[in-house]
Order: sequence, then structure tokens, then C-alpha cells
Amino acid sequence: MQPSETAASEAVRPLLRVRQVREFSDQPVDPSDLDAMADAARWSGSSKNTQPWRFIVITDRATLRSLHESGMPHTRSLATARAVIAIVMPHESGRGISHAFDEGRAAERMLIAASLLGLGAGIAWIGSEARPDVSELLGMPEDRFVRTVVAIGHPSDAARQPKSAPGEARLPRNETVFNERWPG
Ligand SMILES: Cc1cc2nc3c(=O)[nH]c(=O)nc-3n(C[C@H](O)[C@H](O)[C@H](O)COP(=O)(O)O)c2cc1C
Repeated sequence: MQPSETAASEAVRPLLRVRQVREFSDQPVDPSDLDAMADAARWSGSSKNTQPWRFIVITDRATLRSLHESGMPHTRSLATARAVIAIVMPHESGRGISHAFDEGRAAERMLIAASLLGLGAGIAWIGSEARPDVSELLGMPEDRFVRTVVAIGHPSDAARQPKSAPGEARLPRNETVFNERWPG
């Protein structure tokens, strides 16, 4: 039996369906879905349970448009997103790697939560050159910044189509997963 056909692999299949969505329909997102996504994020584990992140839930159309324009081309998904959850991180020297790890965990949890709720979501990075504008837009204090925003909405019909041919979205299993030792 292939690893992809076991009961265990079926159990984790919902995680394999979590993909990056960059285009959304006009259908609004239920506020309770956004609350649930934010809760999933704030329950993420973090280094020494420091919980360095804060989350800003944004649905205001003008703010979404400004975010989209500030961060192009990385923020192209915000053109159609109905909501965004911005991950606010502290500037703290010496903790950059640990914070980036914690931030990534929270971001991925939100993508998973969106998928479980029947929504689509995608990561967009705010490049360093765009961060001052985004900080001002969101009224951030000096000691915090936003690098990751999660675009949220109902996937458009185009976004629901397969993005690549079967088996092509990821490297083959035998090139990425090894048993006991590095191969060779
Ligand atoms: C650290 C990180 C930064 C990313 N930044 C962006 C981004 O700025 N804009 C974007 O559209 N996608 C961004 N992505 C999404 C990746 O392009 C996406 O995860 C990858 O293409 C796989 O997509 P798939 O799961 O749908 O195959 C980012 C992903 C990660 C992990």
C-alpha cells in the first residue's frame, strides 16, 4: 500500500488540501469565521509560550485597498480579499528567528482554519520598503511591525480549479522524505 492510501493519510488529508488562495469571490465572510480564525492563531504554540504576535482583523474596504496598493506585487491577493488578518510582531533584537518561526506557525494555522471553515486564505508578505506605510495605516506603535498578512475570502471559481497537474504541486515523496539516514 502506498503511504498516500492509508487510513492515517486519509486522516491528515484535510491538511493537504490547505493551499494558497489568491483570488476571492464577492461573497462576504461571516464575522464569526474571522473570530474563529483569530482564535486558532492565538492558540498557536510559540517559543517559551511568549505569544509575541498580535492580530488585527481588517474588513474595511478602504483599508484593504490601501494594504493591497502598499505591498504590491506581493499583496496582489488583497485586490479581491474580503478580509485580512495582519500579524503584528515586536521589534526585538536577537529574537528575529524565533519570532519569524512563531509568526509562521500562526499564519499556517489561519490557513488551516480557513480551509476547515470552507474559506480560502493566502499569505502575503509586506516587504520592508512597504512596512512604514502599513504601520501608519494601521496605527501601529514604533516597536511593532507587520510582515505577514493573511488574505481571506471565499475562493473565486478560478481559484477553485486545480493549480497544477496531479503530482506536480510538490516535489516527489522519495526526494523529500527519507528513512533513518540521509540517502546515498
Ligand atoms: C514565508 C512565505 C511568504 C510568502 N509570501 C507570499 C506573498 O508575498 N504573496 C503571495 O501571493 N504568496 C506568498 N506566499 C505563498 C507561497 O507562494 C505559497 O505558499 C506557495 O506558492 C505554495 O502554494 P500552494 O500551497 O498553493 O501550492 C508566501 C509563503 C510563505 C511561506
